[in-house]
Amino acid sequence: MSKFSDLLNVAIIACLLGAKVQGAPPVNPTSTASSADPSPTVPYASDDLNEPLWNPNSRIIPEAMRGTLGGSILGPQNVPIELENPSIMAPPTTDHGKIPNAKWPFSLSHNRLQTGGWARQQTVSDLPIAAEIAGVNMKLEAGAIRELHWHKTAEWAYVLNGSTQISTVTPEGQNYVATAHPGDLWYFPPGQPHSLQATADSPEGSEFLLVFDNGNFDESGTFLLTDWLAHVPKEVIAKNFQTNKAAFDHIPGRELYIFPGVPPADNAQPPVSPEGSPPEPFTYEFSKIQPTIHSGGTVKIADSTTFKASKTIAVAEITVEPGAIRELHWHPTQDEWTFFIEGYARVTQFGAQSNARTFDYQAGDIAYIPSPYGHYVENTGNTTLHFLEIFKTDRFQDVSLAQWLALTPPELVKEHLQLSDETIENLKKQKQVLVGPVHA
Ligand SMILES: *[C@@H]1O[C@H](CO)[C@@H](O)[C@H](O)[C@H]1NC(C)=O
Ligand SMILES: *[C@@H]1O[C@H](CO)[C@@H](O)[C@H](O)[C@H]1NC(C)=O
Repeated sequence: MSKFSDLLNVAIIACLLGAKVQGAPPVNPTSTASSADPSPTVPYASDDLNEPLWNPNSRIIPEAMRGTLGGSILGPQNVPIELENPSIMAPPTTDHGKIPNAKWPFSLSHNRLQTGGWARQQTVSDLPIAAEIAGVNMKLEAGAIRELHWHKTAEWAYVLNGSTQISTVTPEGQNYVATAHPGDLWYFPPGQPHSLQATADSPEGSEFLLVFDNGNFDESGTFLLTDWLAHVPKEVIAKNFQTNKAAFDHIPGRELYIFPGVPPADNAQPPVSPEGSPPEPFTYEFSKIQPTIHSGGTVKIADSTTFKASKTIAVAEITVEPGAIRELHWHPTQDEWTFFIEGYARVTQFGAQSNARTFDYQAGDIAYIPSPYGHYVENTGNTTLHFLEIFKTDRFQDVSLAQWLALTPPELVKEHLQLSDETIENLKKQKQVLVGPVHA
């Protein structure tokens, strides 16, 4: 670029900036007049610290105040809900604009109580932004059965407590039975028939999280063995199974869904199929995988590269130590459906165009973070935070802000953020994933 055109650019920029430049530090012109103002020409970002002002264990009546902003509340208050959501009632001043609600506690889900267990779900009707994934939390008493059924979406599960024996038969006629223990996974491809049964490993049975790769999935709308046969003429059933009608005299007149049963043997084996066993197991001993340890916590990932059958769901199981954060990042193509198992968390979603909103979560809560929204997950409690990041994909992926900046020409980063050379040199070229607290 010639001296002349440089001068011309300075002149053009000075004209465009007009009065704004007066009193501001000298402008370092960029080469095109249409690029954004360098940051000294816009105000610096707020220095407010914006910590959460209380937590669910605080013994206070919360007020809608942050510093000099807001005021006391004179009307009625639902204090337990307000204590759980400091970032909703007294948001950080960095929040702005419109991000749809991204929190659903399973505690607010209507529960279906049956003899033998219960099931509650979260679908798009509860959490409208959760378009890609729906979740079910189910409990089976020891021996109780979630009956033989199938559905159009794939099913992925994480065992929360006790152990569950699953059975399935593939369209090719290969069969599979296995027991999943706490922290283990299972996966059934779309439409593949299966059943679940709590073992007697724990006298209280088994509880698990089910995830479906469609936000509209409705657990009450699955295809049940009993429901089907109750709606087929008896003579057709007899013809189909080549029996007399009496053989089917005692089939249930309506669906069972969840019902009590005798706990299965530890080593229960399915009949031998002439088609053999499926090439890939439908369970995965995720609980036995050693996590990767970072300064702020641990991570382990299961997707189709390791749990080969799991073609449409990937998970990162994460722990974050007190004071640490899951680093600023995003997922390039897939929405995140998050389930909190233990601890307390704060998450700010950045949705472009200045839109940002902060939410607080605790055990039993679901978060939904659309792709490619920037976010972090901060442990705001005094105990380990434990959660699952779940995606509708065959491959887990994320982009780390720190790694992106560390691997970009430093001059370019400096022009954006006015960082010191030292700060830029210290940017980590490898993903930190979980960043420990700063020890001053
Ligand atoms: C399962 O639940 C029992 C009863 O609440 C509890 O004592 C146990 O620690 C739980 N196990 C796991 C793996 O969470
Ligand atoms: C963490 O400990 C501090 C100090 O005891 C307490 O004020 C705070 O309420 C605790 N946080 C939670 C989430 O329990």
